[in-house]
Amino acid sequence: VSQEIDPSEFRRVLGHLPTGVTVISAFAPEETGMAVNSFISVSLSPPLVLFCPAKSSTTWPRIRDAGGFCVSILAEHHEEVSRAFALRDADRFAGLPWHRRATGPALDEAVGWIDCSVREEHPAGDHTIVVAAVEEMAVADGVAPLVFVRGRYGAVHHPGDGRP
Ligand SMILES: Cc1cc2nc3c(=O)[nH]c(=O)nc-3n(C[C@H](O)[C@H](O)[C@H](O)COP(=O)(O)O)c2cc1C
Repeated sequence: VSQEIDPSEFRRVLGHLPTGVTVISAFAPEETGMAVNSFISVSLSPPLVLFCPAKSSTTWPRIRDAGGFCVSILAEHHEEVSRAFALRDADRFAGLPWHRRATGPALDEAVGWIDCSVREEHPAGDHTIVVAAVEEMAVADGVAPLVFVRGRYGAVHHPGDGRP
């Protein structure tokens, strides 16, 4: 029997686990995307990934209807992009350079891009676990990824990384 967990305490404790930040996007049919830090790899063979959209998300149903999505792994200079892709009623792609990939609009200056097709959806409390198959991928070597931890943004650098 678990004790009552306070939502702000849940956020505070789980927020100590650093994650990357992605923009998950599709053509629905116009450019559509949302900031996501629940994206993670699941299986190597077959190649599967997952992310967890909130049940309240208005963007996820539109991406689901597209059948697939493009994951842009955000770079360290993308803090404002991450914030912008979480704002409602904003033109999230405005002024942002992007290019067309098989599954959606990909941010030009991202660290990497993963084209996915939706395979399974599992209800999980106030979120949904979306399992997707990886169809194609690419990476820009030497670009430090954006890191999200304790409600703040940072980066981890390795020798040889370029600076934005
Ligand atoms: C760093 C960061 C990580 C986020 N991760 C998630 C996530 O994993 N799942 C989710 O549903 N929303 C996540 N959000 C919030 C969504 O981006 C935001 O609520 C959503 O795009 C706005 O609502 P909409 O889906 O109706 O467009 C995150 C936001 C930020 C800034």
